[in-house]
Amino acid sequence: MEVIIGAPDELARLAAGAIEKLLRRCPDAVLGLATGSSPLAVYDELVRLHVADGLSFARARAFNLDEYVGLPADHPQRYSNVIEHAFTGRVDFAAGAVHGPDGLAQDLVAACAAYEDAIAAAGGVDLQIVGIGTDGHVAFNEPGSSLASRTRIKTLTEQTRADNARFFSGDIDQVPHLCLTQGLATVMAARHIVLVATGRAKADAVHQLVEGPVSAMWPATILQLHPHVTVLVDNGAASRLQLADYFRSTYAAKPVWQGL
Ligand code: GLP
Repeated sequence: MEVIIGAPDELARLAAGAIEKLLRRCPDAVLGLATGSSPLAVYDELVRLHVADGLSFARARAFNLDEYVGLPADHPQRYSNVIEHAFTGRVDFAAGAVHGPDGLAQDLVAACAAYEDAIAAAGGVDLQIVGIGTDGHVAFNEPGSSLASRTRIKTLTEQTRADNARFFSGDIDQVPHLCLTQGLATVMAARHIVLVATGRAKADAVHQLVEGPVSAMWPATILQLHPHVTVLVDNGAASRLQLADYFRSTYAAKPVWQGL
């Protein structure tokens, strides 16, 4: 696990730079996309690279982490719409290249299995962008999630519904209770995981993620068992890290050729 502490714009450039490097080398790469406010600056930087430097997504494929159950197809907070609005609709992905769990399926269990099959058929995710919830959730894997879980139906915690109420006019009653989410084992199967977290509200979750014991109580801690994770955090999110000075000096001494 590499931890890099930097200003939010620098973190966005690092994450977008890793995706750019991957796509220049492998134009048909499979990207894993996340909602939430943390990755937005990364998506803006990718759009900038698309417009200014011709970075193309025309042959790439993408899989979203999660989706609310039951939001109408045109609801602005439906995660497939959020990702399209924030990122994929602003670049040149081919029609049908961006996938998400189907929160409107008649048979939600079958939709979850089909989603796992689709990721596998695409050859797995090459680079997965993730955020982290204040309770340590990754995608929508809430505390208590099986560390071996696959895409499935989950019930959101009151904490997550309260955190996300800001996207629903501040009204928690409008936030769905149910979601479909990639499981922790699904996320762990990605070849490179890039986690972005900013702001003091994430400090406890980031401390547990990097320095806590691996536990279903803080689902993100499973990432400690992944061989290639990059954790990008600003000063606020890093404010509870005991090893912050070590991470700062490690990054300052990092050879430029190493990349992420
Ligand atoms: C939601 C998403 C997560 C995301 C989390 C944090 O719950 N399902 O994938 O990591 O929000 O969001 P934010 O970055 O806005 O704090």
